[in-house]
Amino acid sequence: MPMRWAIVGSGQMADGIAAAIDRTPDAELTVIVGRTMDSAARLATHRGGRPADDLVAALGKDVDAVYVGSPNAFHHEHARRALLAGKHVLVDKPAATTLPDARDLVATADAVGLVLAVNLQGRHHPGLGIAREWIADQVIGRPVVFRASLAFGPEALEGWRADPSLAGAAALYNLGVHAIDMVLAIADEPAMQVLALTSPAGEPLDRTSILLVRLRSGAVATILASQELDSDEVVLEVVGTRARLAWSGWMAPYRRGRISVSTAEGPTRTVDVECPDAYERVVADVMEAARTGRPPAASGAALLETVAVTEAARDSARLARAIDVHRS
Ligand SMILES: NC(=O)c1ccc[n+]([C@@H]2O[C@H](COP(=O)([O-])OP(=O)(O)OC[C@H]3O[C@@H](n4cnc5c(N)ncnc54)[C@H](OP(=O)(O)O)[C@@H]3O)[C@@H](O)[C@H]2O)c1
Repeated sequence: MPMRWAIVGSGQMADGIAAAIDRTPDAELTVIVGRTMDSAARLATHRGGRPADDLVAALGKDVDAVYVGSPNAFHHEHARRALLAGKHVLVDKPAATTLPDARDLVATADAVGLVLAVNLQGRHHPGLGIAREWIADQVIGRPVVFRASLAFGPEALEGWRADPSLAGAAALYNLGVHAIDMVLAIADEPAMQVLALTSPAGEPLDRTSILLVRLRSGAVATILASQELDSDEVVLEVVGTRARLAWSGWMAPYRRGRISVSTAEGPTRTVDVECPDAYERVVADVMEAARTGRPPAASGAALLETVAVTEAARDSARLARAIDVHRS
């Protein structure tokens, strides 16, 4: 029996997940829930499934799992409703725009015993396992500094992304969440403190955010997310006591990248890594988690951690001081 999916949202990301469902064995798209019947029908004509405009009514017996790809401010409500309707949930990032909402989602998923996964596709990149293995093998010595940058050129804020009450933040949520999650996934340890500067200063819709994050081991991460740089920046680096690990092209839409380790004398090892099917991996992971009961790759823990760090970053930028990361 295939896993039958509903998609909430009818925009760019909904289309991407619909295409991934189409390419995933044993997955079937049964319903698209749009803001309006028209926008749902537009995507359904293209990708299949029946159109709907009422989430609760749409989540019938022919739906096993729900992808939530609505504007950020609705993620918590839509994911919560889907869980309470008895469906597994893949929610896009940011999974929630407040820490209490994030905690509520995780608690709701635990209470109903269903899968709650976040669409943090970097978690599924084959390069992540390689980077983690090399670091665990002490190839670079003790990690001291993590650096992650994500920028895909200048991007105008339009539609819901230009409305602070729907978006919550701009570069921090659109790109920064991925960079934060990848640093935490590679470091395999939690964040303790955040100091953030955003530009324009004092505005919720940041075009550029720079975070300094102290990790539990004492290592420090610098994270840049920008929607106004002229050039792409897709950088992940871990600088250790003996060598530096650098990973280029770690994030979709880049499909190919390279992980290398170098010392002051030059490169010591290099591997090319590919991830042409990030969203198929995300969909397949949710299905496997539902089938086996194992946690998804980007689980409630990653959800809570990314929301805790982004919340600390927003507070830090607003208050112009370092903020401890709280999870409860
Ligand atoms: N994981 C990733 O790499 C990744 C990449 C891109 C986006 N995302 C996430 O995916 C989510 C959707 O982004 P997107 O790029 O797909 O956005 P999008 O193309 O602008 O689509 C937004 C969707 O939300 C609906 N919508 C717009 N304004 C609304 C409102 N006021 N009330 C209710 N619905 C409204 C739109 O409906 P209409 O068509 O009827 O206006 C459309 O279905 C965001 O949370 C974003 O952070 C994740």
